[in-house]
Amino acid sequence: MIDDAARVRRIDDAARVRRIDDAARVRRPAWVRSRFGLSLPALLTVLVLGGLCGLCGDAPDASDASVGVGIPAHREVSAGLARTPPMGWNSWNLRGAAVSAVDIRAAADALVATGMRDAGYRYVTIDDGWMFPARDEHGTLIADPGRFPGGIAALARYVHARGLRLGIYESPGRTTCQGRPGSYGHEAHDAVTFAAWGVDYLKYDACSYPGLRPAGTSARAWLVAGFTRMRNALDATGRPIVYSINPSSSGDPAGERAWSWAPSVANLWRVTNDHAPCWATVLPMDYYPGVCTSDSFDPASAWASEGGPGHWNDLDMLAVGLTPSAVNPDVENLASLATGRVSNQLDDIEARTELSVWSMFASALIAGNDLTTMSPATRTMLTNRAVLAIDQDPLGGPASRRGGDSWDGLSVWTRPLAGGDTAVLVVNRGDTRRAADLPGSPLALRANPAGYEIADLWTGRLTRPAGTVPTLSVDLAPHEAALLRLTPVGRTAG
Ligand code: GLA
Repeated sequence: MIDDAARVRRIDDAARVRRIDDAARVRRPAWVRSRFGLSLPALLTVLVLGGLCGLCGDAPDASDASVGVGIPAHREVSAGLARTPPMGWNSWNLRGAAVSAVDIRAAADALVATGMRDAGYRYVTIDDGWMFPARDEHGTLIADPGRFPGGIAALARYVHARGLRLGIYESPGRTTCQGRPGSYGHEAHDAVTFAAWGVDYLKYDACSYPGLRPAGTSARAWLVAGFTRMRNALDATGRPIVYSINPSSSGDPAGERAWSWAPSVANLWRVTNDHAPCWATVLPMDYYPGVCTSDSFDPASAWASEGGPGHWNDLDMLAVGLTPSAVNPDVENLASLATGRVSNQLDDIEARTELSVWSMFASALIAGNDLTTMSPATRTMLTNRAVLAIDQDPLGGPASRRGGDSWDGLSVWTRPLAGGDTAVLVVNRGDTRRAADLPGSPLALRANPAGYEIADLWTGRLTRPAGTVPTLSVDLAPHEAALLRLTPVGRTAG
């Protein structure tokens, strides 16, 4: 039961933490790195905090004035993290709070075997439920010994050995959404623990935190303070750890305004509440934006311009491939609440649309389905490199809505890509088939003397319509999307 805590306290164990030497990750100057993969100040902190958790203390107060001046510059500027939206797999949608090391190892192996790792899915994240209900006598988090008998550091080594990275979950509250120990008042200690274990990604989820807000502090200031505290604690460890926040899991509408401050604090932030495998919410839901796939389009569109290299909107884990027989009951219940149906899942057309929308809006792409049993169709769509390249486009440009809320009954967005290409997304949100010819000028396409080559990223079909500005012809089944890449013929990249 105390295996993990012991690991953190012993520097010789931290020495076994394997770092992933990926060119995309920043190489820190040698003087700030130790051979343990932690900065020297962080190592000293490990030593001190191992025995003196009394120093962790309570979290500092956050008055509006104090947090108003304290937001540091974008973290990624110094750390170079998440230059494109993080991709990976998360345990919540499949296993819920019952997640175990067996699940994480199986997901890691499947990411490799299915080709998903090589398509870009690198982060394997252990969501809520991994902790033992109490910290150890030194205040250190302990992984549930029954489900994680080897501890988290061993799991990190397993994951790293497969060219993947390990993500973990915590909350700024006293408890997580599943009632496990939260990081409130333990931020520095937990950050050092995660770094020593070899964690590469933290999902930090508001849960009970808004309930701790002192009188006289605004909801926004309280959120900023709580999420900034952990971000600073992560920075202090010296280990590059992607910081993914969810300010809205508390159901607090203030969390939904995260985009006004989150880009300065985190690498990605949720713009929707929890997402479930359903196409559209049909029943009244109390404050639940984004539960079904098509509910996510408007929040995604509204905040598209807040994303960019190092800081991304997060539309939540993909519902692609989730089946009624392999889904966390909490997630299934959410879909049922939204649709009034007992059994919910996206069909393949809807799943392709979801992936198109998430990619168009440069969301994190975090799968949550059972990778060991997924259908060939699901695997093929999750590894469609032409679609993933839209998500991962290095420019990180925003998608803009064209033609208003409905253009011939369709929803249309365009997005500039690196090298001068343009992505166009056309979605038929309705329940009947729709065909349309969309002229290029309202799409804000610039005239190109030799015209455009158009790649349909799902069918692979290439066309070269006449004219300097093409008209796009689409014919879409209910809930279907066309994701197109337009390349100006004869124009050199850049
Ligand atoms: C919240 C989050 C989910 C998941 C659960 C775990 O609901 O939004 O993504 O992490 O907590 O309890």
